[in-house]
Amino acid sequence: MARALSNVEFQLMCFFMKFRDKVNPPHKILNEVGIQPGFFILDYGCGPGSFSLAAAQLVGKSGKIFALDIHPLALKKVKKKITQLEYSNIEIIKSDCYTGLGDNSVDVALLFDIIHMLSEPEKILKEIHRILKPEGKLSLTIHGSDKKKAIREVEQTDLSQFLFEGEHTYNFSKI
Ligand SMILES: C[S@@+](CC[C@H](N)C(=O)[O-])C[C@H]1O[C@@H](n2cnc3c(N)ncnc32)[C@H](O)[C@@H]1O
Repeated sequence: MARALSNVEFQLMCFFMKFRDKVNPPHKILNEVGIQPGFFILDYGCGPGSFSLAAAQLVGKSGKIFALDIHPLALKKVKKKITQLEYSNIEIIKSDCYTGLGDNSVDVALLFDIIHMLSEPEKILKEIHRILKPEGKLSLTIHGSDKKKAIREVEQTDLSQFLFEGEHTYNFSKI
């Protein structure tokens, strides 16, 4: 079982994310990924839900967002926003790896600002590979300076092939 942040660490992280989202709005970043109406999206490690909410607008009512996190506070925050904004296309999942989603069922998996936190990234990359459709895409944003290491980590699994780099994202196809 992976370790969740303490509540204080989590709240502090959310505080900094508010500034991050002001500088680089989630909608703008998601535009790089090519999300279409009707897409099913897994937001793995959704945190307070900045990208889940932005993606929910892009996929519309015919699409769906699965917002997954290990931290109860993350899911509480996302739930509160879903209720306030009356979104009906976001489902919350509490997990540290297994998604419970069907094989080949998701168009895009977001691993945003999380890979540096994972003790066993290969397990999660394997789970994402299982649930991605054959033409599905894995999209990463990478925290910190060691971007090459993170990309190598993904490629070493032999499950994903580097597709393209956007201004903020690194995108992979399913092998
Ligand atoms: C830095 S935050 C990024 C949140 C969000 N992706 C964003 O960019 O706004 C990383 C999140 O990943 C979650 N997390 C860390 N390890 C996890 C794991 N093994 N499984 C699921 N979530 C995890 C943390 O609880 C935290 O909410």
